[in-house]
Amino acid sequence: MTAPDAPARRVALVTGAARGIGAAIAGRLARDGHDVVVLDLDADACAATIATVHACGRQALALAADVSDERSVAMAIEAATAALGAPTILVNNAGVLRDRTVAKMSLDDWETVMAVNLRGAFLLSRAVQPGMRDAKWGRIVNLSSTAALGAFGEANYAAAKAGIQGFTRSLALELGRYGITVNAVAPGFVATDMTRAVAERNGMTFAAMEQEMLKSIVVGRVGAPDDIANAVAFFTDARSDFVTGQTLYVAGAPRG
Ligand SMILES: NC(=O)c1ccc[n+]([C@@H]2O[C@H](COP(=O)([O-])OP(=O)(O)OC[C@H]3O[C@@H](n4cnc5c(N)ncnc54)[C@H](O)[C@@H]3O)[C@@H](O)[C@H]2O)c1
Repeated sequence: MTAPDAPARRVALVTGAARGIGAAIAGRLARDGHDVVVLDLDADACAATIATVHACGRQALALAADVSDERSVAMAIEAATAALGAPTILVNNAGVLRDRTVAKMSLDDWETVMAVNLRGAFLLSRAVQPGMRDAKWGRIVNLSSTAALGAFGEANYAAAKAGIQGFTRSLALELGRYGITVNAVAPGFVATDMTRAVAERNGMTFAAMEQEMLKSIVVGRVGAPDDIANAVAFFTDARSDFVTGQTLYVAGAPRG
């Protein structure tokens, strides 16, 4: 039997949820009582995340979609709505890096990073709006980064992640009247495939890169995907409805 004060079951959609931070967010939202649409480029790659959601007794749907593609996003929202209902929690987590100094950066490096990290958040946020407005309730959480403050060799990524913060504040202004909050989480260094690939590209072991990062992380450890999922869960909580347009740095040190 559902306790009288149990939170309402919602349909959550998490992009880039096959692995890393997105997978942790999907698991956390399932533990919080929500059904979860697990969206990534390859549906088969979502199997482990789907199993985690099912283990929490919640429904799950794996969807293959490219967040940077308008048609792909429209089809994904249609499929999600038909299978589980209109998503009223959206986490724009899918992201990519194409690190190079500006002098060496190709137009494609620039466009790809902007398309996935920034255009993707726009397309998904627009596509879920009708359902959230009908429900008179919604939660949108966008993944920014400490790179938004400036990051060597990541001008494209820094621009996209700073753009996410302006997008978040602007969308919060537009959607507050409909009971929809929009916030951002800006992680620092988190151990995932993304940061492992950075170490490899820089010719370092991951352990050596962690040691380097620890010099500026005052809590004495690098981040784990669950650290970010916890912050997302705060913003998606029904009781957080007075918090909107904010960016929360989750970096083991003061940032921002
Ligand atoms: N790991 C960190 O230290 C860190 C720090 C700050 C911010 N972030 C941000 O957190 C988010 C998750 O990062 P992560 O470390 O888990 O990355 P990751 O590379 O491990 O996972 C990203 C996921 O996004 C998916 N994806 C990529 N392009 C996509 C597209 N076009 N459409 C749909 N899915 C796509 C990938 O397939 C992958 O499953 C990203 O937005 C990233 O920029 C990460």
